[in-house]
Amino acid sequence: MDKIKEILIGTNNEGKYKEICDLLPKRVIKYSLKEFNILSPEETGKSFEKNSFIKASYFSKKTNLICLSDDSGLEIDLLNGEPGIYSSRWSGKKNNFDLAIKKIFKKMKKINKDWFYYNKARFICCLTLFWPNGKSYSSKGIVKGEISNSKRGQNGFGYDPIFIPNGYDQTFGEMESKLKMSIDHRFKAYLKIKNFFI
Ligand code: IMP
Repeated sequence: MDKIKEILIGTNNEGKYKEICDLLPKRVIKYSLKEFNILSPEETGKSFEKNSFIKASYFSKKTNLICLSDDSGLEIDLLNGEPGIYSSRWSGKKNNFDLAIKKIFKKMKKINKDWFYYNKARFICCLTLFWPNGKSYSSKGIVKGEISNSKRGQNGFGYDPIFIPNGYDQTFGEMESKLKMSIDHRFKAYLKIKNFFI
């Protein structure tokens, strides 16, 4: 199998872009969507798998490059898996995660005022590689944890300040990014595709 030497990182999310670049080997040449001025397609799928495939195939076809796309999100048990595939959309057009996090606290409290005892959640990431010849490969990673009762930490992005992974006391927002990236959903999904690169 020919190893991938250059790749388009198929995301317009800065936080994801940085984490994916850091996961990939240094010698792989990385292109961003900014270089091609491409907007993201509509995520019409009903699963992380489908949406990451939609993005990877769309960007690869636009650029004729091998593309790696990520679709990810936070699933909260008490909210029946919400926000899930709508994790990004809960932050609105302005990507305001303060707003999205407030919405989570409000919804959890409405369902159960003692929601803190029922705070199980997980981050899910689906990565899809799509080649210009139509070949594709997808992988999934999950990290289980809990929702903290307040926002904590300035690191990371999105819902990081309210997610405490199992086995730790810190939220992802409080963790050194190196630690987060060695245990999170994106890393676990990456482990399953890393042989395409190394
Ligand atoms: P999408 O995959 O572009 O639909 O966006 C997924 C959304 O899930 C992001 O905008 C983030 O809000 C959230 N998300 C996914 N992965 C992470 C993570 O590692 N930390 C914090 N939030 C995340």
